[in-house]
Amino acid sequence: MKTGLWAMALAVWLPALWPWSSDVPIPATVRLVLIGDTQGYLSPCGCVKPMAGGIRRRLAALRLMKGVGPTVVVDSGGLVSGRDRQDEIKAETLAESARAGGVAALGLRTSDARLGPGLVQAIDRLSGGVVTTLGLKEDNALGIRPWIVAEPFMIVSVPSEPDAIAESLLEQPASVIAALRLALKSAEAEGLVPVALLDQPLAESRDFAVRWPEFKLVVARGQSSAMLAPETVGQTLVVTGVEKANVLLSLEWSGSAFVGYRALSLGPEIPDDAEGSHIFRTYTRRVDEERLIDRLPRVETPSFAGSASCAPCHSSEYIVWKESAHGSALKTLEDEGQDRDPECTGCHVVGLDSTVGFRDRKTTPNLANVGCESCHGPSRAHVMDPAVRTPKKAADSCLSCHNPAHSPGFDFDTYWPKIRH
Ligand code: HEC
Ligand code: HEC
Ligand code: HEC
Ligand code: HEC
Repeated sequence: MKTGLWAMALAVWLPALWPWSSDVPIPATVRLVLIGDTQGYLSPCGCVKPMAGGIRRRLAALRLMKGVGPTVVVDSGGLVSGRDRQDEIKAETLAESARAGGVAALGLRTSDARLGPGLVQAIDRLSGGVVTTLGLKEDNALGIRPWIVAEPFMIVSVPSEPDAIAESLLEQPASVIAALRLALKSAEAEGLVPVALLDQPLAESRDFAVRWPEFKLVVARGQSSAMLAPETVGQTLVVTGVEKANVLLSLEWSGSAFVGYRALSLGPEIPDDAEGSHIFRTYTRRVDEERLIDRLPRVETPSFAGSASCAPCHSSEYIVWKESAHGSALKTLEDEGQDRDPECTGCHVVGLDSTVGFRDRKTTPNLANVGCESCHGPSRAHVMDPAVRTPKKAADSCLSCHNPAHSPGFDFDTYWPKIRH
């Protein structure tokens, strides 16, 4: 879609508060845009349609929204959920994306803090110094701010989960509470609007809103989809983030209350932002250059022969396969620059988990793509002597790749006819 079209779509989505004609003055309303719970999803998963989310679209949407009127962008954290090398690279990438998106405050969640002091400092630096959390342990003198003022808001990221906190950089609950009191006093003195980012599910966040009514807005941990409308607890609004951050949430502060809640799904109609694309490409290049894919655990299996070696005896099957989506599944990843990504390649080639399986297209060209042996099992023995049967009942193989996350619509009876051979 051309930029003009999706910009118009977004203009419809944005409320009529900011009229497009320039002779009408912009009211003193400030938009608060919330990103949250990215959980390592830097890119919309191509496996699921319609694809939503990703930093490339996020940055395009943020740029447009900021062009419309005063906007404060807040990332409630939860950049990653794991703590391996790829998570570290993702966290740094998301921090750069936060800087590019003009994020004013980035809440440090327990999952992020678990990456350790070095990474937390890197995230803070790369994001332009906007990382914040209450109650960082004193011996971790990382210079992380306890809260951030982005007028008219005061953004307070409140850690939780005592057990998880104990093994992270974050302090125990008692001193968090002391810090909270301090933050609220400071907000009151400066006439700011306190907003809490919680690392807690909705129910606990409602309780929090009851106990801390000074907050005008409480943002709970992400759910699988955006709330249709915020909940009201006393004078406080409670909203949840969205898992994978494939939706942007927006509210307007009218001067006395939050109004105009919207949820914008980052669907395919939103184009990729140029800077976002650059940041994403740098990420995939780093994943490639650090050879993370070579670190995957592999087990011993019988030998593979490769799809081409089946062709002489099973030519009709081979032709059907070659033309099916399976026959070009690696190319799909190459087009995305993610063919060397440990989080992708396993389901798009033959035997990535085997010591004798796919290495790379050059070394093992016959094991590229979802091949015959992805479903029939390693079959060199059968190729040598057709009297030896192929090892697997192929119909049982589908779900290992067509799982709910990557193929939510999978149904054997409708999928099999498309690849029958
Ligand atoms: C040299 C010829 C030859 C090659 C090469 C060959 N096959 Fe076969 N294949 C046969 C013959 C012959 C049968 C029938 C065997 C039978 O029914 O006893 C067969 C049967 C099969 C069957 C059905 C019976 C079974 O074993 O479960 C599958 C599946 C199969 N082949 C897959 C493959 C795959 C996958 C490859 C490549 C990795 C391959 N074949 C390579 C000759 C070959
Ligand atoms: C090794 C992983 C893997 C296995 C096993 C697997 N698939 Fe797939 N399948 C894929 C991938 C990856 C794609 C997407 C390929 C592409 O377009 O790049 C796909 C695509 C498809 C498509 C095309 C979908 C479309 O809408 O065009 C069909 C149909 C399909 N698979 C059926 C099956 C069936 C049936 C089985 C089991 C008999 C199966 N697959 C087993 C990985 C797998
Ligand atoms: C668990 C296995 C699995 C993993 C891991 C996986 N995929 Fe897939 N992918 C699939 C399956 C299965 C399909 C086909 C889905 C369908 O059509 O139902 C698919 C389809 C796709 C498609 C759509 C192809 C088309 O044109 O229809 C893209 C793009 C894609 N995957 C990219 C990726 C990327 C990028 C990653 C890593 C971030 C990834 N995949 C990781 C299994 C996987
Ligand atoms: C996506 C999974 C998948 C892929 C890829 C695949 N097959 Fe199959 N194949 C099946 C399924 C499912 C059957 C149905 C019989 C079964 O359950 O084993 C089957 C059946 C067959 C049969 C007939 C078996 C019989 O009992 O009559 C042959 C031969 C065969 N496949 C060969 C191949 C060859 C050669 C390739 C690669 C060129 C290939 N298959 C790729 C899943 C697959």
